[in-house]
Amino acid sequence: MSVPKSQYLSSAWAEGIFANRVLFITGGAGSIGSAQTRALVHLGADACIIGRNVEKTEAAAREIAKVRSGARVLGIGGVDVRNYESLKAAADRCVKELGSIDYVVAGAAGNFIAPISALSPNAFKTVIEIDTIGTFNTVKATIPYLIESASRNPNPSPSGQTGGRFVSVSATFHYTGMPLQSHVSAAKAAIDSLMGSVAIEYGPFGVTANTIAPGAIAGTEGMERLASSQHTRDEHTRQIPSGRWGNVRDIADATVYLFSDAGNYVNGTNLVVDGAGWRRQGGLQVGLDEGMAYPNFLFTGEISKNLKGGKRSSSKL
Ligand code: COA
Repeated sequence: MSVPKSQYLSSAWAEGIFANRVLFITGGAGSIGSAQTRALVHLGADACIIGRNVEKTEAAAREIAKVRSGARVLGIGGVDVRNYESLKAAADRCVKELGSIDYVVAGAAGNFIAPISALSPNAFKTVIEIDTIGTFNTVKATIPYLIESASRNPNPSPSGQTGGRFVSVSATFHYTGMPLQSHVSAAKAAIDSLMGSVAIEYGPFGVTANTIAPGAIAGTEGMERLASSQHTRDEHTRQIPSGRWGNVRDIADATVYLFSDAGNYVNGTNLVVDGAGWRRQGGLQVGLDEGMAYPNFLFTGEISKNLKGGKRSSSKL
């Protein structure tokens, strides 16, 4: 059964605003990435979805193509963003088969829950390599095509059509800091900085580069890991000024905004989509069972019994 439009796109956007445009997205088979892709494809774009797993990536492409009759969605699996050469080959193939790359989303990310005491140097490096270096590789592999797209689509354009836009999916952890997320916080802070540099160096070529910083988004692998116990979920929801977790549509709509004629002058910034959650982040408790409290669990080495994707053994100081 296909995904109802209301789950990935609001009613705010005009049909066809991305007609004859092509999206290149890493992590496009994930929960946030597939909503971003569905939204763009629904509004007229074709897309290339990049992922590590071949079957998952190709299956996601087939599903997403159903949102619009005639949509071309290419699933390019077997690509690890840590490997520049394979990413470059994917970008070249995308342009050969679909004609251009007008929009890029760098959404591939790696995450797990661990205190610094349980992070090996290789564990820290792995997340930096996937998130930060993977985003850099994505910039390098696609920027020549984005410059071409920007030159075909002057900003602002009389037709209202756009091109030459880059969005990275970031986070808000590093605004205040969050226990058990030192590796991801460092990686995402670097992504924010990198997008600013891309805006500075490629803005003169007509390219825009921004981040979207999602807060707690329901139904994502990230939140399954970060808030896997009901206790964490309840506590967390109470901390969010807007009173709810976000959903993938909130992020898809933000992406449409940045790529659309409405986002022409937004460049080099971080668009936070989190219900003001980061402003209360200091009180947030992640990955905790009832009875566990910050900072006590760091002293005792206690780790939540409900963590998904977390190492189950105690941490060592
Ligand atoms: N706690 C502490 N260290 C961990 C860990 C955990 N939960 N999970 C992995 N690591 C460490 C490994 O032990 C290894 O370090 P070591 O060689 O010193 O032992 C290092 O991280 C690399 O792990 P590996 O499994 O070899 O890396 P990978 O490239 O196969 O996988 C990950 C990358 C670790 C990010 C993996 O979790 C992953 O692929 N996740 C899927 C994508 C994802 O996380 N999406 C979330 C989106 S928010």
